[in-house]
Amino acid sequence: FQPKVLAGKRVLVTAGPTSEPIDPVRVLTNVSSGKMGYAIARAAREAGAEVTLVSGPTALAAPRGVRRVDVTTARDMLDAVMAGVPDADIFVAVAAVADWRVKEVSASKLKKTDGRPPALEFVQNPDILGTVAALPRPPYCVGFAAETEDLARHAAEKRARKRVPLLVGNLAQDVLGRDDTTLVLYDDAGEHPLARLSKLAAARQLVAEIGRRAGS
Ligand code: C5P
Repeated sequence: FQPKVLAGKRVLVTAGPTSEPIDPVRVLTNVSSGKMGYAIARAAREAGAEVTLVSGPTALAAPRGVRRVDVTTARDMLDAVMAGVPDADIFVAVAAVADWRVKEVSASKLKKTDGRPPALEFVQNPDILGTVAALPRPPYCVGFAAETEDLARHAAEKRARKRVPLLVGNLAQDVLGRDDTTLVLYDDAGEHPLARLSKLAAARQLVAEIGRRAGS
């Protein structure tokens, strides 16, 4: 039995990587299967929420009853998220957004000229979670942090910088592509580790925690 802790709530979730073009045949992307974000979308739906999942390219099927919006780049993802935010009570940013994109996308395939690699110039992508959290009346915002070390320090720093009430940390090497995960929740009260669980079980626990915090 799953209590409907998010009944009547509208939840917006980002998941998967973004993919930033370099030329017509090459992209810059992040390693992300989308499994955690999709599990959260599914768990939120099971908990009675109306769920929109803004997804970068993944191999996953949309969970039943979840509206999926497919995007490719970080800027597409920002547009889709900003379109959904006015109707969202809760925003969970799980996507591994590419931090940079190539400044000038080449219209034709870059060539191996004289064995010299091309010099690419990068520009920063928008911070989607930071943008939403800074709105005058933001939804309840939940962020993720996948780190390779010093999880507590990075997560606390990220929570403060993005001004989100709840930040969920995990160690990248423990979770990438896997079906199980170990999540640690960081909020005003401190640090709350969850047990090692399947991503779906962890998502259900996280949704219960969000339901408790996002109020009724
Ligand atoms: O420090 P970092 O920017 O990687 O923080 C990760 C958190 O911020 C995740 O919740 C991720 O989905 C979100 N994020 C975002 N837009 C970005 C970068 C990260 O929404 N451009």
